[in-house]
Amino acid sequence: MLVKVFGAAVQGIDATVITIETNCSRGCMFYLVGLPDSAVKESHHRIICALQFNDYKMPTSQITVNMAPADIRKEGAAYDLPIAVSMLAAAEKIAAGKLPRYLIMGELSLDGTIQPVKGVLSIAIRAKEEGFEGVIVPQQNVREAAVVEGIKVFGVRQLKEVVDFLNGQIELPETSIDIREEFYAQQDRFELDFSDVKGQDNVKRALEIAAAGGHNLIMIGSPGSGKSMMAKRLPSILPPLSLEESLETTKIHSVAGKLNRNTSLISKRPFRDPHHTISPVALVGGGSYPQPGEISLAHNGVLFLDELAEFNRNVLEVLRQPLEDRSITISRVKWNVDYPAGFMLVASTNPCPCGYYNHPTRDCVCTQTQVQKYLNKISGPLLDRIDIQVEIAPVSFEKISDTRPAEASIAIRERVIAARNIQAKRYEAHRGVYCNAQMSGKLLGRYAQPDTQGLKLLRTAMNSLNLSARAYDRILKVARTIADLEGSEQIHYTHIGEAIGYRSLDKVGQTT
Ligand SMILES: Nc1ncnc2c1ncn2[C@@H]1O[C@H](COP(=O)(O)OP(=O)(O)O)[C@@H](O)[C@H]1O
Ligand SMILES: [Mg+2]
Repeated sequence: MLVKVFGAAVQGIDATVITIETNCSRGCMFYLVGLPDSAVKESHHRIICALQFNDYKMPTSQITVNMAPADIRKEGAAYDLPIAVSMLAAAEKIAAGKLPRYLIMGELSLDGTIQPVKGVLSIAIRAKEEGFEGVIVPQQNVREAAVVEGIKVFGVRQLKEVVDFLNGQIELPETSIDIREEFYAQQDRFELDFSDVKGQDNVKRALEIAAAGGHNLIMIGSPGSGKSMMAKRLPSILPPLSLEESLETTKIHSVAGKLNRNTSLISKRPFRDPHHTISPVALVGGGSYPQPGEISLAHNGVLFLDELAEFNRNVLEVLRQPLEDRSITISRVKWNVDYPAGFMLVASTNPCPCGYYNHPTRDCVCTQTQVQKYLNKISGPLLDRIDIQVEIAPVSFEKISDTRPAEASIAIRERVIAARNIQAKRYEAHRGVYCNAQMSGKLLGRYAQPDTQGLKLLRTAMNSLNLSARAYDRILKVARTIADLEGSEQIHYTHIGEAIGYRSLDKVGQTT
């Protein structure tokens, strides 16, 4: 008998329906066709074992399983369950009647236990679009599937449950979660708050500007000055994720298999801080089974590169293209996959190899050449993508011993949101532009022209500091954000002046 069962393949962050056709006929061979990879081919052994363990006797006949369309590569062990169901249906152990209604995915253990799979959110979205009545997925993945409204979600733990359900012998509970309520309830809960950070007002201000305009930022300061501490608090002042943004970020985490079992929708902007020993593939994504990298896991959030100078130069080089495009394309001989990668880059670095260049109380033991070499290491690949460079001095004893809490994140966040609202309105008609950092040259000309005094100051600074054209654009963008934080339509010289102050590394370059 020939039967059809439906599963799905995930490419990039979207899924495609896969039809699994199985036929039993005379003979005693097993064929699996339709571009399966080696993990799918091995599924045969797992499935046979799971069937035997559960006392499902297969006829000694030739079984042919075809996975269509044949031009889509089927990867991993997630097809075990739909293949097993189709084999059982072909052998008439499962009634075929309900099969067209459901999209089924799951990995099988040898005893028939169903293991979680990746990309269930994308799979459920596709199932809904294709008009399926429901999805049958591993119990561990039900919360991601339940994000999709208007489709039934059945979580299963054992092969036997699936068989009995499809045969109409048992009912399965439907999973439904009020994701909106859960999403909004969790949005404002942060463990780390800026009220813990004493002093460092200039750095907090720079972080507020960065958050308000979506600017990339680097902090330069000696060890123990609070760089990591402040970076970790950045998500608490960023505007809340919209449902749409959350869905996209959640899809990526689902595809990467990185979603917490208790999470449906990710409710906070991600903060990813990969170690400096990370490989280029782990950072930007790839591998023989392409997987999203850290830059995609940071989508709609923050990528923090702590101790930037410690990263390998080739690792930093691969960041350039996604920083520009806000997505990454992974090319293989026969196909490409795209992953979104729109993140805010925050980096930290020591000012020199010993860490104490320009330190108020400690002596730096580095030569001027060593300092310059160190800064060149970070400035080469990335610095021209970073709008805000801020120097950070160690916090003084008076400040650190002050027991009063500093301004709380929620107050800073309110100002950030107000500035973002101004930007959202300004860029309404410009597709793909949401914040000042994303302004093109044309938009800069239109929206970021300073007044006469501002222009004069800019001209003087450009000449005396010998700044590049790139620095000029960055100053205008940052000045636009500073003006927005003040609610000022016009960019004044005070805004320009502050923005020029965020070019510390350009100035260091001048002194040597
Ligand atoms: N401004 C500050 N306010 C409160 N604690 C601070 C401050 N700066 C540093 N600290 C303390 O020092 C520790 C080390 O700071 P850290 O952020 O790791 O420094 P860095 O990354 O610059 O080397 C922090 O965990 C925190 O306990
Ligand atoms: Mg640190």
